[in-house]
Amino acid sequence: MPQSMQPGDAKAAEIKAISIGKTFGAFHALKDLSLDIKRGEFLTLLGPSGSGKTTFLMILAGFLAPTSGKLVMDGKDITNIPAEDRSYGMVFQGYALFPHLTVEQNIAFPLKVRRQSAADIKRRVGEMVERVGLVGHEKKLPAKLSGGQQQRVALARALAFEPSVLLLDEPFSALDKNLREMMQEEAKRLHQETGTTFVFVTHDQSEALALSSRVAIFNHGELLQAGKPQEVYERPANRFVAEFLGEINLLPLDTVQLDGERAAGRFEDQTITVNKSSALAGRAALAAIRPEHMVISVEHRKDNCNAITCRVEGATYFGASTKYHLRTRTGTSLAVSMPTATTSPIEPNTNVWVSWPEHQGFLLPNGS
Ligand SMILES: Nc1ncnc2c1ncn2[C@@H]1O[C@H](COP(=O)(O)OP(=O)(O)OP(=O)(O)O)[C@@H](O)[C@H]1O
Ligand SMILES: [Mg+2]
Repeated sequence: MPQSMQPGDAKAAEIKAISIGKTFGAFHALKDLSLDIKRGEFLTLLGPSGSGKTTFLMILAGFLAPTSGKLVMDGKDITNIPAEDRSYGMVFQGYALFPHLTVEQNIAFPLKVRRQSAADIKRRVGEMVERVGLVGHEKKLPAKLSGGQQQRVALARALAFEPSVLLLDEPFSALDKNLREMMQEEAKRLHQETGTTFVFVTHDQSEALALSSRVAIFNHGELLQAGKPQEVYERPANRFVAEFLGEINLLPLDTVQLDGERAAGRFEDQTITVNKSSALAGRAALAAIRPEHMVISVEHRKDNCNAITCRVEGATYFGASTKYHLRTRTGTSLAVSMPTATTSPIEPNTNVWVSWPEHQGFLLPNGS
């Protein structure tokens, strides 16, 4: 076993996945997927059901062999190293606790397997119980714990032996909203405290944006984009990523012209100015703007803003914000989200201006 895989080695690992392919019969579950997992980062794999997230995690864990490509951990090829020798921590949705073992026996289990001394195990279990807030519950069996408490035990058990990588597959998806948010905070804190490399799978975009240092977006077995939450949300590489991460308004522009730091095209009878994207110069494209970057006004605002006329069709009240549903003159539908506190309600059928700063708009290829 190489030095970096010794039990109890707390060093966070980096993993390079290089051109990973995985087929099940004729079906391509992963297609030529390359991704660098950085040392100590909190990387989230995000994508719709069936996009290959669990398959990729299973390949990282060593439970599935890739059909093609390789995995390099800390400079060493680990593609053919079995799961037990990779020694990663794991928390899976269906990865149940041992029902006949108490909380402390569950957490001690991976330490016993690694033949640590009784004194070390006792100390480490005590630390982990405290770290996940389960002091007083040590002697309970899993069946006597709430769902959130059980997931805390699973986290403690996975982190007890200080793995160099922790793999988590939708660990909180069965919990209700409040408990899920609590466990998200817990996971974030444990990541900061341990410095371990976390690879977390979810299909919940807000969970991905809230937790991660980077998000990798999967679709149909392909990696579409990887970047910091702000990057993928504010500068998505394509329409799928833009729409998967949240609502987005898309205005079809005719031929895009480059103009200094900006690009511009015509939408209805207005010129719309957006951030430059050289790849789309001279072509028809979509101007993309998030609903929260737009505002509604009765007067035409001209301060470095784009503005189009719309008719209000309705509104949805979300408490902190209100979302207005609008339609442009030629029938493109738009959504504008504004803080409820600073906005007076706007009646349906009102004609208004919708405006937004030029730098908040960006170009996406039309038809992707
Ligand atoms: N053992 C297998 N045999 C055949 N097909 C499989 C197998 N495992 C996964 N697949 C297929 O590979 C694709 C990717 O599956 P995977 O479980 O990786 O998706 P996922 O992104 O984790 O989805 P979810 O969000 O639903 O968990 C799916 O179409 C699935 O049916
Ligand atoms: Mg899955």
